[in-house]
Amino acid sequence: MTTSTERSLVLVKPDGVRRGLTGEIVRRIEAKGYTLVRLELRTATRELLAAHYAEHEGKPFYEPLVEFMLSGPVAAIVIEGERCIEGFRSLAGTTDPTVAAPGTIRGDLGRDWGLAVQQNLVHGSDSPESAVREIGIWFPEGS
Ligand code: PPS
Repeated sequence: MTTSTERSLVLVKPDGVRRGLTGEIVRRIEAKGYTLVRLELRTATRELLAAHYAEHEGKPFYEPLVEFMLSGPVAAIVIEGERCIEGFRSLAGTTDPTVAAPGTIRGDLGRDWGLAVQQNLVHGSDSPESAVREIGIWFPEGS
């Protein structure tokens, strides 16, 4: 691995898995040229999500977000590539799928379903520090 090669944790959230979009999302990651290092279908636990979303504890969306993430399996993926942390977030589009740009995962495949919880298909680590922390939470045995 060169010094500028990064790894990022990507999650296909329960809405993406339920809608059968895991393959399409993985296709976009691979088409962009990122390498898949790990890919597992997982059912999260409350403990795992408490660690993953620790920085958001106490925010109004925290409990609904955790319940949503427990509502079905997620695909936990470690990707690798030059600047893939920023690159994947660009591929994903902005958090709100209603305004995410066409061409992005959320812009092309997501929408507001009028539910209390925002369902936006994917999560991507937001910094190198978060990526290391999140990969360690989801793949404690190492990747
Ligand atoms: S913040 O406060 O600016 O850091 O929050 P943000 O980066 O926009 O979002 C952090 C994660 O919380 C999710 N989120 C929500 N989920 C469900 N419902 C609502 N209303 C909601 N608002 C924010 C958002 O999708 C982010 O999830 P991840 O998994 O990190 O992408």
